[in-house]
Amino acid sequence: MLHRKKNCLNAPGTLEFHEGILWGDIFMGDSAPSSKPQQTVTLTDNATGRKFEFPVREGSIGPRVIDISKLYAETGMFTYDPGFTSTAACESAVTYIDGDKGILLHRGYSIKELAKKSDFLEVCYLLLHGELPNPEQKKEFVTIITRHTMVHEQMQFFFRGFRRDSHPMAVLVGTVGALAAFYHDSLDIDDPRQREIAAHRLIAKVPTLAALTYKYSIGQPFVYPRNELSFSENFLHMTFSVPTEPYKVNPILARAMDRIFILHADHEQNASTSTVRLAGSSRANPFACIASGIASLWGPAHGGANEAVLLMLNKIADKKNIPEYIKRSKDKNDSFRLMGFGHRVYKNYDPRAEIMRETCHEVLGELGIKNDPLLDIALELERIALQDPYFIEKKLYPNVDFYSGIILKAMGFPTSMFTVLFAVARTVGWVSQWKEMIEEPTQKIGRPRQLYTGSPERAFVPLDQRK
Ligand code: CMC
Repeated sequence: MLHRKKNCLNAPGTLEFHEGILWGDIFMGDSAPSSKPQQTVTLTDNATGRKFEFPVREGSIGPRVIDISKLYAETGMFTYDPGFTSTAACESAVTYIDGDKGILLHRGYSIKELAKKSDFLEVCYLLLHGELPNPEQKKEFVTIITRHTMVHEQMQFFFRGFRRDSHPMAVLVGTVGALAAFYHDSLDIDDPRQREIAAHRLIAKVPTLAALTYKYSIGQPFVYPRNELSFSENFLHMTFSVPTEPYKVNPILARAMDRIFILHADHEQNASTSTVRLAGSSRANPFACIASGIASLWGPAHGGANEAVLLMLNKIADKKNIPEYIKRSKDKNDSFRLMGFGHRVYKNYDPRAEIMRETCHEVLGELGIKNDPLLDIALELERIALQDPYFIEKKLYPNVDFYSGIILKAMGFPTSMFTVLFAVARTVGWVSQWKEMIEEPTQKIGRPRQLYTGSPERAFVPLDQRK
């Protein structure tokens, strides 16, 4: 056994980690046993002097992981990692992010290539099935999704129960969860065919529900989907057309919508995806799981950030006020943060933000918006922040939400719909990750542990004796 000593802490009550390589036989599939080194990490409990060895696992790319699944059984200790900053909660082959280099891959394909050369339904197929479809598979998939876009006619009564001024995300959480009450024939998660139908229904129906949410909020008639349109064209049609006059979808705007959907389709084990996985780990039905993901996405630190960016730009109101807001964002006694900046994983320019910036210029150009005051503020804010030592030192770069709000506003969406559009796009990511988890043979319920800091056991005090 070879031990390389790393990060040793010698104070009593601390643990030392040593990296090692264990040479042993590993069986790879059906082939003969190969003699491959198995990496390990040795943990020394300085309080007792006991040593424990844990396997180190290697993915196809990315950081290695220490397999601590037997940690509690062997040491009687848990790990403590609030916010899961150092925890790989699952194995996944769907999406890979290298936050330092600003790389995002779906099933191995770079987001930049997908955004430029593919379309949203092709990306959906890729995320769900692991490979890009051939022409025949694509045709079949597009037909299936198109045929599932209508929602049960009775769903409209759900909408009518909401106040017209409800936040669209509140309506979406409720109506997506309610799908489970209408589609009983796709709730058996042990049946692969039912899982597939549920996946198709979710990808196809969430956009329809999102458009209905918008129509309800402005008091316009609901618009049915149209099968001859592409996914994104149909979404724009359901959202912006009215029965009184023909609506022609602008191809540049449809392409921009499609690109926005591609850019938001999946993002590894973020808060909402982890929520979907955790909800699904109890074997809850897929519609309930996706509703839980939508609830998590709503928060301003996650999907709600695109809405928050626009509110912030409006508040800044003038380029001359930028330095004051930059100053506030650096002040630890002020809760204000520069929305659309920073990311848990990206410590470099978010690759999605780059494409979003380009798309923003394309859309504003197409719509003839020469001087958008919000875009001017955004560009100047980005320029100043990227030169500021605070943002440089903390590696805070614009994220995907920084420019998306400006595009969506120019396209005619109200601010409150921005996170709904994120949910429309992310549904396929949630569904793909949920499916991957359910199909994992060793899948078990997610159940984190805790570092308890409350009172030890104590005797109950009757009411008349309490002070
Ligand atoms: N403005 C000012 N300071 C910031 C910002 C910001 N936007 N983001 C992070 N920081 C500071 C933070 O105060 C901390 O400073 P210190 O080390 O002195 O305590 C340091 O940078 C590290 O930040 P953190 O909060 O520990 O990082 P995190 O990984 O927990 O948070 C984040 C990531 C995205 C929640 C955070 O950067 C943030 O709140 N950004 C604004 C909201 C936003 O744009 N969210 C969209 C994320 S992308 C879309 C998505 O995936 O949902």
